Amino acid sequence: MTKLALGILISGRGSNMVSLVDAALAADYPARPVLVLSNRPTAAGLIRAQALGVETDVVDHKAFGTDREAHERAIDARLREKGVEIIALAGYMRVLTPWFVRRWQGRMVNIHPSLLPKYPGLNTHARALAAGDTEAGCSVHWVTEGVDAGEVIARARITICPDDTAERLAERLLPEEHRLYPEALRQACDQILTRDPSTV
Ligand code: GAR
Repeated sequence: MTKLALGILISGRGSNMVSLVDAALAADYPARPVLVLSNRPTAAGLIRAQALGVETDVVDHKAFGTDREAHERAIDARLREKGVEIIALAGYMRVLTPWFVRRWQGRMVNIHPSLLPKYPGLNTHARALAAGDTEAGCSVHWVTEGVDAGEVIARARITICPDDTAERLAERLLPEEHRLYPEALRQACDQILTRDPSTV
C-alpha cells in the first residue's frame, strides 16, 4: 500500500510523536515516519524517537535570532531532503510563519489540547476551568495561517470533574490525545491520497 513519508515536529516530551510512530508500525497505516525534528536540542522526544529507530534532527531556533522565516526555511530544507510528504506537529510550541504554512498547506496537521474552535493558543485547560465548562478535549486540525484555526479533522472529549486542576486535566486528556492523533492522521493521509495520488 502507499504510505506517505511523515515528518513529525516536536519541541519537548514527544509522547504524541511516540503514539504516531507506534501506529505507523501497522502494515495498513498510510504513513511512515522518516524524520522527527525538534527546534530544541534538549527535547526529550529526540531520545524517544531514536530509541524507536526514527531519524532525528535539530534546527535550533536560537541560532536564527529573530528571523523566524530563516529558521523555518532551514526546517523546510531538512524535510524536503528526507522526502517528507505530510507533517504532523506534535507539541511543536512555536507559531509558524505564513511562508511555512503556505508551503505545506493541505499537508500539515496539528494536535491542540482544546475542543476547537474553543481556546486556540495557550493555557487551554485553565481557560476551560475558568469558564466553568463541563467538558474538555483535544482536536486534530489542518494547519492554516490563523493560530489553531484550520478545519478540524477529529476531536476527543472528557468530562471535567469538580476537583480537576489544569495539570490534572492535561494528564487525564493525554491518553485521549494518543488515541485520537493516529486515527486523525490516518484520515488526513487518506484525504491527501484521494485528492492527490499522483504526488506520491
Ligand atoms: C500535548 O498536550 C499537545 O496537545 C500540546 O502540547 C502537549 C505536547 O505533549 N500541544 C499544544 O499545546 C500545541 N499548541 P507531547 O510532547 O508529550 O506530545
